[in-house]
Amino acid sequence: MRKLNALYFSATSTTRKCVTTVASAINLPLASSINIADRNHIPLPDYSKDEAVIVAVPVYGGRIPSLAVDKLTQVKGNGAKAIAMVVYGNRDYDDALLELTDILKAQDFHIIAAAAFIGQHSIFPKVGTSRPDNSDMKKLSYFGKICSQLLDMEIPGSLKIKGNRPYKKYGGVPVHPEGSREKCITCGTCVELCPVAAINSEEPWKTNADTCISCGRCISVCRQGARNYKGIKYNLIGTVFTAAFTKRKEPDIIYPSKI
Ligand SMILES: Cc1cc2nc3c(=O)[nH]c(=O)nc-3n(C[C@H](O)[C@H](O)[C@H](O)COP(=O)(O)O)c2cc1C
Repeated sequence: MRKLNALYFSATSTTRKCVTTVASAINLPLASSINIADRNHIPLPDYSKDEAVIVAVPVYGGRIPSLAVDKLTQVKGNGAKAIAMVVYGNRDYDDALLELTDILKAQDFHIIAAAAFIGQHSIFPKVGTSRPDNSDMKKLSYFGKICSQLLDMEIPGSLKIKGNRPYKKYGGVPVHPEGSREKCITCGTCVELCPVAAINSEEPWKTNADTCISCGRCISVCRQGARNYKGIKYNLIGTVFTAAFTKRKEPDIIYPSKI
């Protein structure tokens, strides 16, 4: 194994943090790192048999973001080894890891390990608050160390991933971030970084609700704090959601069944 790569979707940087932590525990230099949430990311490479790729996505409605599916189904693994990871906001990851591993197999990756980690919920930040925390960071590093060893081994056996086929139907999210006309300085950062171009450069305090995927990137990149979720609907859903999903979940780590 000569090269390590990272290929991930991260709108509010939680998935990126998990990927970076795993990558730094692997005994290989990081040759490429692509965030497919960036509209202007570098072209997706074709990988080769002597490469390893950490592929990570956040969980959206128990699935993986459709934008990530569009990109991942264009990638050629050519027998590269993959570490499959999903990051979810302490509710559940449902069929997301199964969906990710199915895609990677179809794209000719050889998956050596898989994991579901927990990050702060990007819509309801009172759920999974400040995660990954110290305990998660230790588990991420440990996972990376084990993966580092697995990359040097010929591993028989399969991974038992939870989930069902057909996958859960993605229902969408009925709330979208909005901008404050008073706070917005029209700097264009959110316009540029929105993965689906749902913010207009003329009136960046508005959001195109038909296009918006509620990923929260506009909120996290706004230095003026001018964008956020608000309104009665958001507050009501948030209260119920927070009450239902505050109980701490722990990461699931899956290695091939024969080790
Ligand atoms: C549209 C949307 C749907 C989500 N659905 C789920 C879900 O089904 N289960 C869950 O536990 N977290 C869910 N989350 C929370 C994210 O998976 C979590 O916050 C993740 O860490 C975000 O990753 P990022 O910071 O890399 O963008 C959802 C977040 C968004 C934006």
